[in-house]
Amino acid sequence: MTCSVKFDVQIVEDAEALSRAAAEAIVCQVNETLEKREFFTIALSGGSTPRVLYALLAKDASFRDEVDWGKIHFLWGDERYVPPDHPESNYRMANEAMLSKIPVPAANIHRMRTEDADVTKVAEAYEQEVRLLFKLGAGELPRLDCVLLGMGPDGHTASLFPGTTALNEKERLVVANWVEKFRAYRITMTAPVLNNACSIIFLVGGEEKAETLREVLQGKRQPERFPSQLIQPTHGKLLWLIDKASAQLLKKVS
Ligand code: 6PG
Repeated sequence: MTCSVKFDVQIVEDAEALSRAAAEAIVCQVNETLEKREFFTIALSGGSTPRVLYALLAKDASFRDEVDWGKIHFLWGDERYVPPDHPESNYRMANEAMLSKIPVPAANIHRMRTEDADVTKVAEAYEQEVRLLFKLGAGELPRLDCVLLGMGPDGHTASLFPGTTALNEKERLVVANWVEKFRAYRITMTAPVLNNACSIIFLVGGEEKAETLREVLQGKRQPERFPSQLIQPTHGKLLWLIDKASAQLLKKVS
């Protein structure tokens, strides 16, 4: 697949259409990539929006049966610092909705080892796992085939939250990030890694995000306040999949 620079906004009817559009885009990208390469790498996002997408990919034969799941490596763009069986775990959500229902080898599921008592070590270990998977040399960035992202009402994406230290990380691939509003750590891929992807797909739905989405897409650039603005692929393409409810405040651009 050629990673041409592209910035698309696709507005769909509702949450179901959002997941269906994302599933179509992902399956298309997987099959285009696998025509030329031996495997496909995708970083999953967490939260609640992607759960429907993951379930669709695993249940709907028009997607499930179109993908050679054994050739896909699953990573996470971010994770909560909770055990993998915790209700808040992004890994648990993806595993329940999809991974446990498709024939993907366990070796292809690269979850963050959040059971480790030291969150810094969780991030370091994941960075090492990413380096090994992508066979990275010193200073090199992984080129993920696809990165899925969501956007919170506060404008965060992955676990890049407003005013947190991870926003300014330029060297590390994965960091532990203290999020004051949760009084908790998150572990997140950094902006340079996310922006090096061939394809980035934002999934945003719900009217509670409409104001933030307008700021992020059409407001002035202030990534400290709206970290989703950090996402500007260096050479790949960016697709904003948004539903009508979240798009309602966007000014029409001809
Ligand atoms: C997480 C996610 C996070 C998520 C946004 C949006 O760990 O929570 O990775 O970045 O994408 O919070 O979540 P929703 O799509 O559920 O609103």
